[in-house]
Amino acid sequence: MVKQYLKNKYNQPAVPTASAFAPANIALIKYWGKRNQTLNLPVTDSFSISLADHGTKTTISESHSNDDVILLNGEQVDKHTAFYERLIDFLNLFRHDPNYHFYIDTESNIPIAAGLASSASGFAACVKALNHYYQWELNKTELSILARLGSGSACRSLWHGFVHWHAGIKPDGSDSHGEYIHDSWPELRIGLLIIDGQQKALSSRQAMLQTTLTSPFYKIWPNIVADDINHLYDALKNKNFQKFAQTIEQNALAMHATMLTAQAPIMYYQAETIALIHDIWRLRRDNVPVYFTQDAGPNIKALFLAQHLDTIQTQFPTMKIVSPFAH
Ligand code: PMV
Repeated sequence: MVKQYLKNKYNQPAVPTASAFAPANIALIKYWGKRNQTLNLPVTDSFSISLADHGTKTTISESHSNDDVILLNGEQVDKHTAFYERLIDFLNLFRHDPNYHFYIDTESNIPIAAGLASSASGFAACVKALNHYYQWELNKTELSILARLGSGSACRSLWHGFVHWHAGIKPDGSDSHGEYIHDSWPELRIGLLIIDGQQKALSSRQAMLQTTLTSPFYKIWPNIVADDINHLYDALKNKNFQKFAQTIEQNALAMHATMLTAQAPIMYYQAETIALIHDIWRLRRDNVPVYFTQDAGPNIKALFLAQHLDTIQTQFPTMKIVSPFAH
């Protein structure tokens, strides 16, 4: 697929070294379920916000040992880890000579695989670096299509700000990519409440598959997403924070409801996750407009506006604040 896609660019020679950065992104309306497992084609559209300078920087050069070498935050990654295998599977799509080996130096300032979208920024940074390395000169939409092959949500990490991933309808995925949405909301803040920075038990890939195949609630998920995306655009147009954030919170809860009703059930909540959700709801009852979203991990991401930062920070002193439009 990649060979056909890159056509005569597939065999282009490499420059000595190339680097790129891509931000992590958090889905405001979630991608949950694939219509094609190999190409990471989603059942529905999704909508995200990128996390400014939180993300991954990747540098590619040639490895002069007889194997691919991957460094993650300065440490060499063991060949027998899922992280190594996934990245090598992705690089294999672009390797034209089986005897050629990559040296990949990747630095991430977000916890790996804790439902904080580190794979999204990782694959997006990798594909951007490959674009320089092989001098493909592809545009962001084309890079989004390639990044999607590494991890679905990576196709949204090519841009800062709001991104809409269009599911597309073509079997080859050539219309399934991110689109930059020009709206900006400088007062918007994301608070990362990191409970467990360790590797999660069940990958989003496995969890999605289990849910789509077995949850009786999955049938209504595509309609929920379609409605929520419309509500989100309306709220964005009018800068209606309550409508915006309420839609986002309900969408995350609906996604987790599909998981809870899968066979076997999938639960990413930990006791601390639930406690944080109650804290957020308590603040709301006290008229502090704060909402949350949660991905395939126990962490909570709070959503609020800058004017409420002090009150919210007092409640959650360890919260890491991200200003998505400051980059
Ligand atoms: O792209 P993946 O395979 O890491 O899946 C991402 C799944 C969620 O984070 C739960 C939702 C999303 O849209 O990012």
